[in-house]
Amino acid sequence: MEKIVILTGAGISAESGLGTFRDAGGLWTQYRIEDVATPEGFARNPALVQEFYNVRRVKAAQAEPNAAHRALARLQRDWPGEVVIVTQNVDALHEKAGASGVIHMHGELAGALCAVCGHRWRAPEEMAVGEPCPSCGAAAGRPDVVWFGEMPYHMDRIYRHLAEADIFAAIGTSGQVYPAAAFVHEAAAAGAHTVELNLEPSEVSAAFAERFLGPATQVVPDWVEMLLARAEG
Ligand code: APR
Repeated sequence: MEKIVILTGAGISAESGLGTFRDAGGLWTQYRIEDVATPEGFARNPALVQEFYNVRRVKAAQAEPNAAHRALARLQRDWPGEVVIVTQNVDALHEKAGASGVIHMHGELAGALCAVCGHRWRAPEEMAVGEPCPSCGAAAGRPDVVWFGEMPYHMDRIYRHLAEADIFAAIGTSGQVYPAAAFVHEAAAAGAHTVELNLEPSEVSAAFAERFLGPATQVVPDWVEMLLARAEG
């Protein structure tokens, strides 16, 4: 049966109350990327960076998955083939909705990483400047999220999934950040049918064979319903 690979971005969590980055009022209109989402920013002002992620971590922990997250979890359960979710998001709303095997290419707010030894552990809700590493003891705990200038996680696995995709869907992403924005080209080159589900056209909309415009909580459940009806024949 057909393999479905799905890429999600901040737009799928918008209706759960979590901010996007580049919409009006988005996070990058409130903070400068170079201050809070780069290794240089962390070195310059670790307190600002820890605070930026502590606020987001607390908010994400309190957020509930929405109908779009739940629809993807349902697709994973009921679709007769493999469904792989790759997310740029650092929240855990796919998992809270019941999805499994979610690939977090930009890391997770719930994760802490030691900048000295590379040890990973579950982040405290509020991480301090100089958070001690439970493994090596260095006061070097940082959010386990991928900053600009750092390599996204799990790329080999992701490219393998894209090469095997029969259907590739991008949901709630502006298509402005690479390598994720190029996934549609990888999937199309492998012969996948490509679908974009987004509130408005993205930077890469022209690359998709099919588009559904609207809020994720409307267009994603409708798309899943259509796929499952088709699978039942
Ligand atoms: N339903 C569907 N789509 C929505 C909704 C919604 N309710 N609200 C917003 N969107 C769309 C916007 O139209 C936009 O195209 O979601 C997209 C959000 O784009 P960005 O804010 O750029 O977020 P994203 O694409 O996930 O950013 C990618 O950039 O800053 C880095 O690491 C960060 O993972 C992030 C990456």
